[in-house]
Amino acid sequence: MYTPRQTSEWQLKTTDLLQKLPGIKKGDIEVLRDVLRFHEYRYYVLDAPLIADYEYDQLYKGLERLEAALPELVTPDSPTQRVANGLNPSFPTVSHLVPMLSLDNSYNATDLVDWDRRVREGAGETSIEYCVEPKFDGASISLIYEKDLFVRGATRGDGVQGDDITTNIRQIRSVPLSARFSSYGIQQIEIRGEVLLTKKHFKAFNDKLAEQNLPPLANPRNAAAGSLRIKDPSEVRRRNLEAFLYHVSYHSDEDGVPAELLTHSGTLEMLWDLGFRSPNKEKKVFSGIDAVVAYCQEFESGRDALPYEIDGMVIKVNRLDLQDKLGMTTHHPRWAIAYKFKARQATSRLRSVEFQVGRTGAITPVAKIDPVPIGGVTVGSISLFNEDVIREKDLMIGDRVLVERAGDVIPYIVKSLPEARNGGEHKIEFPTDCPECGSRLFKEEGEAVWRCVNIDCPAQVVERIIHFVSKDAMDIKSFGEANVRKFYELGYLRDIPSIYQLPFDQIRGMEGFGEKSISNLSAAIEQSKQQPLHRLIFALGIRYVGETTAKTLAQSVSHLMDLSRMSLEELQQLEDVGVKVAASIHQFFKNRGNLKLLKELEEIGLNFKSEKKETLTDGELSGQTFLFTGTLNRLKRSDAEAMVEERGGKILSGVSSKLNYLVVGDDAGSKLEKAKKIPQIQIITEEEFLKLVENG
Ligand code: IVH
Repeated sequence: MYTPRQTSEWQLKTTDLLQKLPGIKKGDIEVLRDVLRFHEYRYYVLDAPLIADYEYDQLYKGLERLEAALPELVTPDSPTQRVANGLNPSFPTVSHLVPMLSLDNSYNATDLVDWDRRVREGAGETSIEYCVEPKFDGASISLIYEKDLFVRGATRGDGVQGDDITTNIRQIRSVPLSARFSSYGIQQIEIRGEVLLTKKHFKAFNDKLAEQNLPPLANPRNAAAGSLRIKDPSEVRRRNLEAFLYHVSYHSDEDGVPAELLTHSGTLEMLWDLGFRSPNKEKKVFSGIDAVVAYCQEFESGRDALPYEIDGMVIKVNRLDLQDKLGMTTHHPRWAIAYKFKARQATSRLRSVEFQVGRTGAITPVAKIDPVPIGGVTVGSISLFNEDVIREKDLMIGDRVLVERAGDVIPYIVKSLPEARNGGEHKIEFPTDCPECGSRLFKEEGEAVWRCVNIDCPAQVVERIIHFVSKDAMDIKSFGEANVRKFYELGYLRDIPSIYQLPFDQIRGMEGFGEKSISNLSAAIEQSKQQPLHRLIFALGIRYVGETTAKTLAQSVSHLMDLSRMSLEELQQLEDVGVKVAASIHQFFKNRGNLKLLKELEEIGLNFKSEKKETLTDGELSGQTFLFTGTLNRLKRSDAEAMVEERGGKILSGVSSKLNYLVVGDDAGSKLEKAKKIPQIQIITEEEFLKLVENG
C-alpha cells in the first residue's frame, strides 16, 4: 500500500502515467490513485509540489474517467471521493472515544518552573524529558481511522460529545483518507488536532468578502471554527483549510503498543510518517525546564513570520507511561501545559461611534476607543461594519470592550464587558439620515447595511474619486486621499472627469505644490489614460466588482461599452459572475448618469479597449493554437509564447486535436510522440516558427 516516503519511485510512476494519458487502463487505477495521493501530500502537507497543477489535473481527470467507466472499482479513500455531492443535512451529535480535555495555561518562566516541580514530584523522577510544540490557534477536531480508513471526524463540542463533520473533514486535502496504521499494528485510532486557515488563505478569503461589501471574518480561528460547520462541503473545500494533528487519544493494537507510541515525540513522528501534517519538524525534546523556556521564547519572537497563527506553545511530558502516572484533573491533563504568548487582546473604553459614508453610500459605524497598544501598534479606531454587529455585541457608549488584533489582521471588538457597567453607559443611536448630506438612509431587504442613496452626496463623491485614483485602480501616483479632499473642498474636483481638468495654474503656488510636484501629478494623470481596461472597470466602483471580476470582464469584451450591451444571462455566464454581481453590472450600465460619465471619460481619451480581445480577433495568428516542447535554441520559451499571444494566437497546455502547431526544440519527448499520432497537428521547428511569425 501507498506510503508518502519513496519520492523517486512516485516521480517515475508519475512520468509513466502522464505519458500513458489518455490511454490509461483498468490495471493502472491503483497506481494512479497512489500517484495522486502522493502529489496531494507533496502539495498540501509538505508545501513542495513536484508537478504542475495542470499535470495534476490531467491525472485527476484521468482517474475520474476511469472510475466513471468502472464504478465498481471506486474506493472510499480514492482522491475523487473528497468531493461530496449535496449538502450536509445536519451534524449529528457523536461521542468521543475519550473526552477531549483542554490545557492548563502558563504565562511566564516562573509558572513553568512551578509546573516542572509538580510534574517531577508526581512522576517521582529527578529530571523529566519534555516535548515542546506550537499551540495552534484554530478549532479542535478528532479523527477516527479504522482498518486504515478515515471513518469519522468530529468537532470538540463540550469535550464529551461533538458534531459529526466527516464530510467537511474530507475536504481538507492534507488529511489522508487512508493511512497505513496497520503497518504499526494499529486497528483503530482516534487522533486529535487543530483545523486552521493560514494567514494567506484567511486574507484571500476576507478580500473576497470585501469585494462584496461584506464584513470580514474576525480572525483565522473563528474562520476555521465556522468553516467546519458549513452545510455545503464544496464551500468548505474552497476555504483551503489546514489540519495539524498532534495527539493520539485512543488506539487498539494487534500485538501490543507499537514502540512509536511509547513517547509523544514518537507519536508525532509516526503521524508524520503516515502522511499527516503533525508538528514533527517544529517539535523539540528537552530534559530540564530551562531549555523549554528558551525554546518557547524563541518561537514567540518568530511568531509573525509563521504562515499560520499560534497563540503559544504546548509542553508535554514525553514518556507516555509517565503521562499515565500523572493522570488528569477534571479539566486538564497534569502532564501537559500551554505556555501562552503575550496577548493580542486588550481592554479599553468605547468613547463614541462615528458614522462614515463610503463610496457606495454604505454607512459604516466606527468605534472610537481610548487608544491602547496591542501587539506593537496603538489602536484607537475600529470598524464595526454595520448595525447588526453593534446589536449582536451588545455595545454601549461608555462600555469597557475587549479588543483583539491578530497578526496582520485589522483590529476588532471581540465583545463588550457588561459586568463592568455602572449605569452611565448609553445606547448607540444609528442615524436615520446621512451624516454628510442629510438625505434619508435606506436598507435593502436582507441586507445589514444602511445606505445613503443620494448619488451626489459629497462624501460619496470624494470616496469615489479616492477609489478611482488609488493604487489598485487607476494608480494615479502623487494624488492620494489628502489631495482629493483638499481639491474637492476648493472646488477643483467635482466628479471623476474633473480629475482630468484640474486647474494647475491655481494649484501652482499652493502650499506643498512646487513646480516639480505639479509636473509629476500632471504626468501621472496623463499616463493614467493608458491604463489597461481592467483597472478602469475596477476604478468605476461598480458594486460587487472587485479586481478579479474586473479582470474577467475586461477579458470578455473588446471595448468597455460592449458590457452595456450584454444581457443579464450573458453576464452570468462569465466566470466568477453570479446573479448578484451580474445584476449590479447590468444596472450600472442602464443608469443614465453612469453612461454620461463613461461618455465623458471616453472623450477625455481614457483607454476603453481591451488589449487581449483586440489581438485575439485582429492578430495575424488569431484562431491558431501553439505548443512548445523541448529546448529552444534561439528563443526563451516565455518569449516565444509571448510572440504568439501578441499576434493573437493561443498557447495550449497539452497535445490534443485542438492544437494547430507543435514547435519542437531539442530533446522533445512524449508531446512529440503524441502529436505525431494526430494528423491535423503541424509539427514545426523553431526556425520554421520564426519564419511563420515574421511572415505572418
Ligand atoms: S494537546 C489532552 N497540543 O489548545 C491534551 N493542544 O487550550 C490535548 N491546541 O483543546 C491537547 N495546539 O484544541 C495540544 N499542539 C497542541 C495544541 C493544542 C492547539 C488546542 C487544543 C486544546 C486547546 C487547549
